[in-house]
Amino acid sequence: MKVLVTRRLPGGWIERLAEEVDVEMWQGEIPPPKSWILERIHDKDGILVTLTEKVDKEVIDAGKKLRVISTYSVGFDHIDVAYAKSKGIIVTNTPEVLTDATADLIFGLLISVARRIVEGDKLIRSGLWDKPWHPEFMLGKEVHHSTLGILGMGRIGRAILKRAKGFDMKVIYYSRSEHDVDATFVDLDTLLKESDFLVVTVDLNRETYHMLNYERLRLMKRTAFLINASRGPVVNEVDLIRILEEGKIAGAALDVFEREPLERDNPLTNFPNVVLTPHLGSATRETRERMAEVAVKNLLLALKGERPIYEVK
Ligand code: GLV
Repeated sequence: MKVLVTRRLPGGWIERLAEEVDVEMWQGEIPPPKSWILERIHDKDGILVTLTEKVDKEVIDAGKKLRVISTYSVGFDHIDVAYAKSKGIIVTNTPEVLTDATADLIFGLLISVARRIVEGDKLIRSGLWDKPWHPEFMLGKEVHHSTLGILGMGRIGRAILKRAKGFDMKVIYYSRSEHDVDATFVDLDTLLKESDFLVVTVDLNRETYHMLNYERLRLMKRTAFLINASRGPVVNEVDLIRILEEGKIAGAALDVFEREPLERDNPLTNFPNVVLTPHLGSATRETRERMAEVAVKNLLLALKGERPIYEVK
């Protein structure tokens, strides 16, 4: 069997894959151009991709023998799953193994923006810490005992809830349906109006695209913060910039953007009350190696006609 792998992955799992099937792999640091995939996919039984490779109708049609698309990510908005399924192609992903790493990063972002950690670091490095300790210097927002709003209550939402309990936060959430969790289910408007910290954990799909637009963001408190480490397009970025310019929220912490990498001159980079990280949700060595293990095992199991560990249904 032949498989195409679009990125090198940590942890020696591609070498393990190569013991069982013929592997053709892109070696570059940046993602392969689509043409590289299109030229090679015609005789492949499977493809292992990351979130930077679009697997659209054109790619799927070119994969004449394709039976499995294994993505090295929990998100699958880069894959036309419905079309793949209509062709009998199995799509697999890597949830669960990255839940805790992502929830940790989200909490880090939340605390960073609330307690002005990045701003303080920049201040020192730019030589502007020129006065002694002062009672009203760089006051931030208290995290403990504040209200955390979680948008979406999947695996990552639950992992954030668990962390929030340790901070004695009051947790409210909105999701497509009510869950059996120790948090209060509210409607979306209430979530926006009552959260001190609003954390986005929904996946990107037709319903969540630009879900947080100007009309919705303006319902948030002026003292509240938005934290997004799911997918950029869940938030209308132009609207968020306007909301920040108008001072309608206290700040934001963002790990994902409408276009990645974020353009150098994106207005988001000008706000001191915005913390930015370059899509690092699952970026720990341990998690990225576990993701490689799951992506490779998913691919091999599905190719053998067995049930993969995680299938996108
Ligand atoms: C990362 O964004 C992922 O979907 O795994």
